[in-house]
Amino acid sequence: MGLPFFTKKRKIDLPSEQPVLPKHVGIIMDGNGRWAKKRGLPRKAGHREGAQTFRTITRYCSEIGIQYLTVYAFSTENWKRPEDEVGSLMKLFKSYLEEALSDFKDDDIVVRFIGDKSGFSPELQALMRENEESSKSRDGMVLNIAMNYGSRDEIVRAVKNLCADVKSGRVEESAIDETLFSDYLYTAGQPDPDLIIRPSGEYRISNFMLWQAAYTEFVIMNKLWPDFQKSDLDEALRIYAQRNRRYGGV
Ligand code: IPE
Ligand code: IPE
Ligand code: MG
Repeated sequence: MGLPFFTKKRKIDLPSEQPVLPKHVGIIMDGNGRWAKKRGLPRKAGHREGAQTFRTITRYCSEIGIQYLTVYAFSTENWKRPEDEVGSLMKLFKSYLEEALSDFKDDDIVVRFIGDKSGFSPELQALMRENEESSKSRDGMVLNIAMNYGSRDEIVRAVKNLCADVKSGRVEESAIDETLFSDYLYTAGQPDPDLIIRPSGEYRISNFMLWQAAYTEFVIMNKLWPDFQKSDLDEALRIYAQRNRRYGGV
């Protein structure tokens, strides 16, 4: 029988062997389009609903004591979607950055954006910076919002910046190791994700945290993201707690 596992504000039954809550959780917020299609609604209605789920699940993660949450909101490949879908996503991001993110103030959440900000309009870029600035001195959960994020792009950018630093003499080539390389990624200074959850039943990583996920536990869930609830997160945490992480050892 599982021992009760106490988190900051809530109790979850987890097995006794691995009584640890993941420090860093990643979520590939997928399935908005299919959720809308099932209801005969335009895809943007699914994105709107997905944004509500994002808000609920983020606050919940902070409440139960997750220290880092990375949500995949828009990939470097998502620009290839029809113009009106991309347009409605940009509108949604704008209203979120203007309003909803200020909600996170009460939860003391530090908001960071990972990805190439320069792909967004100057207005969105300014809002992203404002959100980062105004939340950086908080001491709660760190929320990384991956927008115009692609892990291959992140790695290429890291290589370029590292090359520039070697060229200028700031970094000795002999000093390059995995730890130093990690410091050139968007997630510099953060622990690797322990758990990545992908709702919507797709068994793929879709260019998300390729370097950081070397030993991450994956949980694929069949719910579409707009239907994802706190109880689904509990379920993913329970599954995670039953995994035996070996990191190549025995
Ligand atoms: C995820 O949902 C949101 C984004 C990628 C922006 P999708 O829009 O990919 O939904 P499906 O996968 O088509 O159902
Ligand atoms: C991954 O979902 C990106 C986000 C959730 C933001 P996609 O829907 O873009 O991924 P694929 O196309 O199914 O691999
Ligand atoms: Mg999808």
